[in-house]
Amino acid sequence: MTSVIPVITVDGPSGSGKGTLAVRLAQHFGWHQLDSGALYRILAEKARIDNVDLGDVPALVVLAEVLEVRFDEGLVWLDNRDVTDEIRSETVGAAASKVAALGPVREAIVGLQHSFRQAPGLVADGRDMGTVIFPDAVVKIFLEASARVRAERRYNQLKNNGLGVSLRALLETIEQRDERDRERAVSPLRPASDAVVIDSSSMSIDEVFKHVVALVAERLA
Ligand code: DC
Repeated sequence: MTSVIPVITVDGPSGSGKGTLAVRLAQHFGWHQLDSGALYRILAEKARIDNVDLGDVPALVVLAEVLEVRFDEGLVWLDNRDVTDEIRSETVGAAASKVAALGPVREAIVGLQHSFRQAPGLVADGRDMGTVIFPDAVVKIFLEASARVRAERRYNQLKNNGLGVSLRALLETIEQRDERDRERAVSPLRPASDAVVIDSSSMSIDEVFKHVVALVAERLA
C-alpha cells in the first residue's frame, strides 16, 4: 500500500534551486529522493549511446520501458555505469528537453517514477511532480526565480569550475528551455493549483529550506 507514504514535490524551472532544495529536504527528513529530470537526461544519453534518433518515438518508448537506472549516494548509474557527470552537460540537457516533450515517452516512465515512493517518504523534484505524477503529495512547492538570476547562478557555478561561458548565451539558453518546457502540449511546466509558489530570486537556499521545513511540519502535524 503506497498511498499513505508521504511525498513532497518540488517543481520549477532549471536553476531555480529545486534540486538543491530537494536534496536538503530528503536529508533532513531521512526520505528517499527522485530527481525526475535525471531520468529524462539518462534516457537522452541512452538514446545517444544506442544510436536511437530523438524523432523515433516508438524506439524511445522501448528504451524508456527497460531503462536500467540506479541512484546511489549522489551517483547516477545507467546500465551499471556511473553517468553522474556526463548527464549534466548542456548537450544532454537540450536532448533531455526534446525527449521530455514526447507524451508516449513521459507515460512510459510514470511507473518507474512511482516506484521511488517508498517508506518513510519521498521528495520528488522536476516539472510535473505535483501536477501529474504525485497529485496527492502532502506539500507541493513550485520554486521560481527570474531567468536573469538563474543565468547568473549557472554562470557563477561554471566559473567556479574553471569554465568560461558568456552570461548572455546562458540567459538565451535558459529562456529557450523555459519556453519549450512551459509551452509544450504534454505536462507543461506550471504550478499545481494547490502548490505553494516561492520566488527564490532574492532568497538564499537556506531561507527557502527553512520556510519549506516549517510548512511540511505544519502539514504533517
Ligand atoms: O531538471 P533538469 O534540467 O535535469 O531536466 C532535464 C529536462 O527534463 C528539462 O528540459 C525538463 C525536463 N523535465 C520534465 O519535462 N519533467 C520533469 N518532471 C523533469 C524534467
